[in-house]
Amino acid sequence: MGDSTDMIGRQTAADEGITAHGASEPAGLDAVPHSPFFQGRFGRMFRTLPPLRPRDEVLDALAGAMRERRDAPSADNPKIPSGYTYLGQFIDHDITFDPVSSLQRRNDPDALVDFRTPRYDLDSLYGSGPAVSPYLYESSDRTFRGVKLLVGRNSGAAFERDDLPRNQQGRALIGDPRNDENTIVSQLQLLFLRFHNAVVDHVRRRRPGLDSGELFRRAQRITRWHYQWVVVHDFLERIVGREMARAVLKPATASSPPVTDLRFYAWDVQPFMPVEFSVGAYRFGHSMVRGVYNLNEIVTSVPIFAAADRPGPLEHLGGFRRLPGAWTVDWSLFFPMGRGRAALQLSRRIDTKIAAPLHALPPGLDRRRRSLAALNLRRGKALGLPSGQAVAAAMGETPLTAAELDIDRLELPAADKASLEADAPLWFYCLKEAEVRAGGEHLGPVAGRIVAEVLVGLLAGDPLSYLHVSPNWRPTLPAARSGAFAMPDLVRVALG
Ligand code: HEM
Repeated sequence: MGDSTDMIGRQTAADEGITAHGASEPAGLDAVPHSPFFQGRFGRMFRTLPPLRPRDEVLDALAGAMRERRDAPSADNPKIPSGYTYLGQFIDHDITFDPVSSLQRRNDPDALVDFRTPRYDLDSLYGSGPAVSPYLYESSDRTFRGVKLLVGRNSGAAFERDDLPRNQQGRALIGDPRNDENTIVSQLQLLFLRFHNAVVDHVRRRRPGLDSGELFRRAQRITRWHYQWVVVHDFLERIVGREMARAVLKPATASSPPVTDLRFYAWDVQPFMPVEFSVGAYRFGHSMVRGVYNLNEIVTSVPIFAAADRPGPLEHLGGFRRLPGAWTVDWSLFFPMGRGRAALQLSRRIDTKIAAPLHALPPGLDRRRRSLAALNLRRGKALGLPSGQAVAAAMGETPLTAAELDIDRLELPAADKASLEADAPLWFYCLKEAEVRAGGEHLGPVAGRIVAEVLVGLLAGDPLSYLHVSPNWRPTLPAARSGAFAMPDLVRVALG
């Protein structure tokens, strides 16, 4: 078998329709990026740069060196509360999800047909809409039939009453199965279901006479546009820094609409998902994951996943199951809701240290319990990503030096170290760049521009987005600062 299938075992997962977070891609994808003409659902920003192909042993050694050590843990990031880590994962799922069946996709192995444009359309909530995915919607309350989204109810003391809707075996019934992969992203999905439902109530109070179809359409648009606003104004500014975010999306002024400055991300017909983003820069979020979290004031210090060498009943935040009793997330521990900094959990700095539990993924995500760092690095090789230095040079940025990359400490033959110092895998490079150029508080110039251009470009190229339809639109829902709707405001609206 080729690199891509045997090392990440994705062929089987895709065949079963099971998607690890990030999975769900057309069979035969590995052949795609090498076509200079390719511009389907996936594509490249830097088509002329050569692919980097280090030996697998080198990538595995690099992945091993990225394991966060107990005696030298990654520090907290004072600028990014930990809820934004999972908002980042939620956004990733939204723009990389493709509900088209794998059978259909296999008929087009090179994905030259654009089955689905990456968009911030919240298909994880709406599926294919009330007519095609009625099981995602309220049906017993006649007023809100096909208008509100269904919230799940558990019975029995062992579980929380409110949860995602689930089948008899506990699997979530949601638009994107990946949003049940861990407790925090699963609770975030529930928060967004509630946000839509709160917006329905809000619209209905103002326009009591609307028929249900119109009520749904209006609420859906308000929900999507406020979420899109949060993505490019709150999330993006935190992740790439305000300066970069505003260089790529210059906010509207009294005399001019917002202006986008996309230098490296261009498309012919509609935006595509660049592999430099999805397999390189945007995987920065893996380094923000903490090893343990407090869910609320009662349930504290729970590891994100159980350690491979300690199976058994140990509590962990692995998903694909009903929400245990008392585990409802208190969002004031995850987003700056005005409760003071003491309780707020921060994300880890963006750096080359990856939390220990991610070095042995739970079987639900990877049957062979491999390291996420190794999967990322091997995936980058399989998809022919160029090196970080090559991308930096193509962007006119000064590449990181050997001293900054600090590869010398790896236990590798000198020749391998020298080649990594000259050409480092893009994902590793992006993390190192954040570490040395921005103190791990946000992404550096190369990764920051890739992320900002793609997140803003997807919005600008979406014919239904607020930026396309009504560029001067401002949020209309209640916010702590008028017109500056951010994630804490979304939480408040959702929870009433
Ligand atoms: C506990 C948290 C997380 C876990 C366990 C996790 C796990 C995974 C796994 C198993 C993959 C597939 C790896 C492969 O085979 O290539 C993946 C892909 C990915 N992850 Fe995560 N992830 C987490 C959080 C995040 C966050 C916070 C972000 C960004 C902010 C992120 C961004 C991505 C992206 C962009 C992909 C590729 C998606 C695609 O192309 O379909 N992940 N992740």
